[in-house]
Amino acid sequence: MIKAVRGTRDLLPPETAVWNFVDEKVREVFRAYNFQEIRTPIFEATELFARGVGEETDIVSKEMYTWEDRGRAESDRGLSLTLRPENTAGVVRAYIEHKLWDRGLNKLYYIGPQFRRERPQKGRYRQFYQIGAEMIGPATAGSESPARDAELLEMLATLLNRLGITGWTLELNSIGSPGDRAAFNEALRKALQPVVANMCGDCQRRAVTNPLRVLDCKVPEDQPIVEKLPRITQFLSEASRAHFDAVCEILTKIGVTFTLNDRLVRGLDYYTRTAFEFTHGTLGAQNAILGGGRYDGLSEALGGPAAPGIGFAIGEDRLVMSLQAEAASKAAALVPIVYIAPVGTGMNGEAAKLARELRQQERLVAAGPVELGDENFRLKKSFETADKLGARYILIVGENEAKSGSFSVKNLKSGQQISVARADLAQKILELP
Ligand code: HAM
Repeated sequence: MIKAVRGTRDLLPPETAVWNFVDEKVREVFRAYNFQEIRTPIFEATELFARGVGEETDIVSKEMYTWEDRGRAESDRGLSLTLRPENTAGVVRAYIEHKLWDRGLNKLYYIGPQFRRERPQKGRYRQFYQIGAEMIGPATAGSESPARDAELLEMLATLLNRLGITGWTLELNSIGSPGDRAAFNEALRKALQPVVANMCGDCQRRAVTNPLRVLDCKVPEDQPIVEKLPRITQFLSEASRAHFDAVCEILTKIGVTFTLNDRLVRGLDYYTRTAFEFTHGTLGAQNAILGGGRYDGLSEALGGPAAPGIGFAIGEDRLVMSLQAEAASKAAALVPIVYIAPVGTGMNGEAAKLARELRQQERLVAAGPVELGDENFRLKKSFETADKLGARYILIVGENEAKSGSFSVKNLKSGQQISVARADLAQKILELP
């Protein structure tokens, strides 16, 4: 038997109804904040991620699905392509390619699959889904303002609340400008030198390539050492400090609660200044429901003009996990409003005609799907099938009904049955108790 590839999975009904519910709610919130959808390809030139996300990150150094794309012709030079591990680099590429700075501040969102070859576990998949947004534009359009950071974070708080997710925590930090971070990295390197030999293998490697990532170490034995390392807060320039203070001030003013966490570093190299994660208690080890931050230098790193930006991505798989309790009630919305049962040979066509008429009644199908049976079912089996589907009504289509133009509609719960003229069917079904 051929199975789904390790780390990938099928999403089946009724769970897919929860995913659709999330997508719809999220789009409503994005609309309220004037974000518009962007769709970028799911694969890009490998170089985009190497330069955008960073060669030294776990994502680029070991988790990407990369292949050499070459045609059959000898002359066709191969190009290294990669399934996107995240969407920010793609959005910024599109910003540069289509000169989106002409539009001032761009407020863009996306929903779609991303790919990382991580070790699969609860809440971690190799194909997973992100709901993300980016605010990017020239500084003259206000893209650098702390007002934008606060607006984005407030939108996220609203979004999670609107979805009915309670008990989230916003963890907030500033990782400074590239200048601040260079000084911090230097200090980390120095502080790590005498102690790093006692740390885990990953930390020993990071101490050389990217000392900031040592702060992200999850190995319990390393924690006492990590605790004593210098903190980014000591290295923030006055400008970085003022920007961060302004963000915190607005959040406090509008009542969005947050926790300062000066150990929060993100796993992608493009971040500058504001960095954040929303965590959720029920998720276990993979407790980050979303993450994001500023990436003021990313456009330039990709060969574009200066274009400060800030964004986030929600892990939709994790979001849905923390919503599971609601799954049943959302799925319940999808029981058929009416089951059409053809009775007797030659009645399939007549029933199909009626189903077609009813399915075109927008108000009726808003109340629930119209399900169509089969003339090969005996009446008893039609009732059983309608019952199993949880249909509210059954509508019998026999030869007499077709001739007279009057159909019997029966409430499957109460047993109550009435006769309705063809033209009134949709209206009457909606009115029935
Ligand atoms: P990230 O922190 O790498 O950031 O991913 C964002 C979220 O995607 C995570 O918090 C998590 O919920 C989810 N996620 C990541 N990897 C997996 C996985 N293997 N399985 C399931 N869920 C996963 C970014 O991707 C940035 N592009 C976010 C951003 C946008 N920053 C600025 N703009």
